[in-house]
Amino acid sequence: MKLIDTYNRHIDYLRISITDHCNFRCFYCTPFSGRNHLSKSKILSYEELLKVSEAAVSAGITKIRITGGEPLVRKGVVEFCRMLSNIKGLRSLTLTTNGLLLKEMAASLFEAGIRRINVSLDTLKPERFQKITGYNLLSNVLAGIKKAEEVGMHPIKINMVVMRGINYDEIEEMVNITFKKPYHVRFIELMPTEGWDFEHHKSLFIPLEEVMKRIGEIGKIQIEPAKNSNGPAKIYVLPGAKGILGFISPLGRHFCGACNRLRLTADGNLRPCLFSKNEIDIKRLLRDGAALETLADVFRQAAIKKPQGHNLDKIDVQRTFGRAMQGIGG
Ligand code: 5AD
Ligand code: SF4
Repeated sequence: MKLIDTYNRHIDYLRISITDHCNFRCFYCTPFSGRNHLSKSKILSYEELLKVSEAAVSAGITKIRITGGEPLVRKGVVEFCRMLSNIKGLRSLTLTTNGLLLKEMAASLFEAGIRRINVSLDTLKPERFQKITGYNLLSNVLAGIKKAEEVGMHPIKINMVVMRGINYDEIEEMVNITFKKPYHVRFIELMPTEGWDFEHHKSLFIPLEEVMKRIGEIGKIQIEPAKNSNGPAKIYVLPGAKGILGFISPLGRHFCGACNRLRLTADGNLRPCLFSKNEIDIKRLLRDGAALETLADVFRQAAIKKPQGHNLDKIDVQRTFGRAMQGIGG
């Protein structure tokens, strides 16, 4: 059965944050939230997550992405992936990671059913990497990406949050990856999430039209829209490239109209929209022993509650997200 929301969008994608812990501290993700992590009893157990996932699939979800915090820091994640990949009706299981533990874990993740992966990578310069993430560990992440490719993950998607004065001058190098590797390189607009000061965000923010223009100026390349773009990313291929380019513009109009997703936070709240603090508490129902059908109904309710779009262009709304990005999982 298809899950269709009030605005006729087909909701088939669930992002599950399995932990709000992370082994990096990217300044844009954890700006003012400090290190107040959720305790173990507050987060959903793997059994609970599996039950919710089954309910989601019975309500019409066909794609699940595991996120965090950093999902690979939670013990037992490989086993959890294996359990998820056995759910009948689930067509795609993917994971978003910062890549730090990927070198050690890629092979077992692949074997547990993860065939595609997204890695956050904002810079290829070690000092900058340290400035952005708090750790001088770029080489570990690059080794992780290499390993993911070696074990057969495809496509590998590289996420770059483009920021003025931070990494804007690396767009060309990132684009060049697609000539060497069959990776998807995706440029993401900086989002003003919980705790962001409006002026601070404005000073770093670069609209993706500017990035696209810049890419258009690199050599003689022509930007061509690809056929099967999916979700809020706009996909382009460059002539002669092995990989493709994606543009994710959360502040642009296209974003909400193409939104196909719901989000589950680590502490068991179903979030219809990334930018709205409205959530449905699914943990309480789970712990009260709710049946699968009741849980599936929660997904239908969440689809109904999904707003038409965000209003990020209105000053100050960014203070009402209710959670730092690290607690939502992007
Ligand atoms: N703006 C844009 N992207 C963000 N991410 C985390 N915080 C932000 C933000 N404020 C991205 C990460 C990662 C994905 C899960 O979300 O870079 O790729
Ligand atoms: Fe961790 Fe990812 Fe947030 Fe960076 S962006 S702090 S790697 S969760």
